[in-house]
Amino acid sequence: MANSLFQPIQLGNLQLSNRIVMPPMTRSRASQPGNLANEMMATYYGQRASAGLIVAEGTQISPMGQGYAWTPGIYSPAQIAGWKKVTDQVHAKGGHIFAQLWHVGRVTHPDNIGGEQPISSSALKAENVKVFIDNGSDEPGFVDVVEPREMTHDDIKQVLAEYHQAALNAVEAGFDGIELHAANGYLVNQFIDSEANNRSDEYGGSLENRLRFLDEVVATLVDAIGAERVGVRLAPLTTLNGTVDAKPEETYTAAAALLSTHKIAYLHIAEVDWDDAPDTPESFKRALREAFDGVLIYAGRYNAESAEQAISQGLADMIGFGRPFVANPDLPERIKNGHPLAAHDPNTLFGGGEKGLTDYPCFETK
Ligand SMILES: Cc1cc2nc3c(=O)[nH]c(=O)nc-3n(C[C@H](O)[C@H](O)[C@H](O)COP(=O)(O)O)c2cc1C
Repeated sequence: MANSLFQPIQLGNLQLSNRIVMPPMTRSRASQPGNLANEMMATYYGQRASAGLIVAEGTQISPMGQGYAWTPGIYSPAQIAGWKKVTDQVHAKGGHIFAQLWHVGRVTHPDNIGGEQPISSSALKAENVKVFIDNGSDEPGFVDVVEPREMTHDDIKQVLAEYHQAALNAVEAGFDGIELHAANGYLVNQFIDSEANNRSDEYGGSLENRLRFLDEVVATLVDAIGAERVGVRLAPLTTLNGTVDAKPEETYTAAAALLSTHKIAYLHIAEVDWDDAPDTPESFKRALREAFDGVLIYAGRYNAESAEQAISQGLADMIGFGRPFVANPDLPERIKNGHPLAAHDPNTLFGGGEKGLTDYPCFETK
């Protein structure tokens, strides 16, 4: 069973032992102050090193790029040192790990970004979106996001420089590559989706213009560390964090074609986040396959059977299993042997310590 999931695959210059991806999952356990990856996170990722590829949790590229309290960064020397502990553990166990580079744009609150006003493609507030803050005085908790200001050309230049440096930092920290988080309503997504972008310059309006920021970010990442170490995550059909496109299939097929010209290692499609997206039509998946030449990863409520089917139909090359990896550190082994999967505790997903992070056991044959 599930044979195609266990065929090796080449990703950039890496040879991966299976097609199972642990997709990025924010767990909000970075050490404070400083938003540092730590020993506990190193143990957690090391336990999951049998995935063909791990994409580590969203990691802010700058203080302004942070949306939630307690998420890790990759812009300070101490953060690079923290991540080195993680990548060392994963590599010691024969695994491969990419960093997910994250700028949240408007999905934040001044308390998370040193009192500044958030930045976005446009001065449009995301409606009904909340973020988690810990401002030191009150109880940590969820608050509404605020109206952002439209990024100037200088802001755009600065954020491009931050992506460039973050990619270099990721390689210095021992990551095998980086995944640009262009999904789930965060900054790059705020440029792509028509209803989040009302700019009148060359970054807004036409589809070509709305893809320009993505194009420039990817170009600078490729310039920094090479196309073979760059992946991109897109979420075409979700409306997460209030980010909506009027014609998502057209927009994202064009985005896939654009990314193909950069010859990046992979395109990662987030189909669902939690349970809130429509099914991705097969015709759209075929269009994405046609548009993009590299490795295609899909994630969103897959199980062993549906993953196997997606790969053997030729629609996907690798499959991400998010929530299943939380409670099953040995997920590939369980899938291979048809062992039952443990359920995760939803109360320990975000924040806290080792409980719900590193204490899920491997399957025991009695
Ligand atoms: C706790 C949690 C945190 C997540 N954090 C991120 C994140 O940092 N970046 C991202 O792109 N997706 C994130 N996701 C989405 C997952 O990568 C994945 O796409 C989603 O869980 C659907 O896959 P699943 O049904 O196999 O869990 C998160 C999901 C969960 C459950």
